[in-house]
Amino acid sequence: MSTRKLALAAAALALGLGAARAETPNLGRPISPADIAPWDITIMPDGTGLPTGSGTPAQGAPIFAQKCAACHNNPPTPFDQKLVGPGLAKITDDPAHPNLVNDKPPTPANIAEILQNGFTGPIGTMPNRQANALSDKDIADLVAYLVSPAGDYFAGCSFDLQ
Ligand code: HEC
Repeated sequence: MSTRKLALAAAALALGLGAARAETPNLGRPISPADIAPWDITIMPDGTGLPTGSGTPAQGAPIFAQKCAACHNNPPTPFDQKLVGPGLAKITDDPAHPNLVNDKPPTPANIAEILQNGFTGPIGTMPNRQANALSDKDIADLVAYLVSPAGDYFAGCSFDLQ
């Protein structure tokens, strides 16, 4: 094809695209930063990006029953008693499982990170916060529930993520 024909073809293509765009049904809309924010889940090594806020075991328990118990036995069920995911009892203090499934130490922030980002490992897939529809407050409450001492989940202590 000569350069001239190429140029014509390009012009025709551009025109065609313009026409196609004009005819497109009005599907979708521009994405605003506010739309992106809930999906922007990058967590820095220093913990920046983790949810903040305060939670209590008492508020975490019903959220766990509603959103987590289908895949995780209710605490206090040991790690080895799996449903879809592991049992989560004594998650911060289980000598048989000193680290979380992502090999990080079981600190509240690292637990919050799993709830935020989800995790796929040898057992299966833990959904992320979007899939589990968790707010920051839900995450704080759930972490409080999971890290509170076994048998004392409703002690009413409060817990700060940061
Ligand atoms: C669809 C099933 C499913 C749901 C729903 C789910 N999880 Fe999970 N979760 C998993 C699986 C599977 C794993 C293990 C992933 C692996 O390592 O293979 C896991 C891992 C975890 C871990 C890490 C455990 C450890 O010992 O390191 C935590 C904490 C956790 N889930 C908490 C929750 C909480 C809290 C909820 C409710 C908001 C929840 N999960 C909902 C499937 C699920």
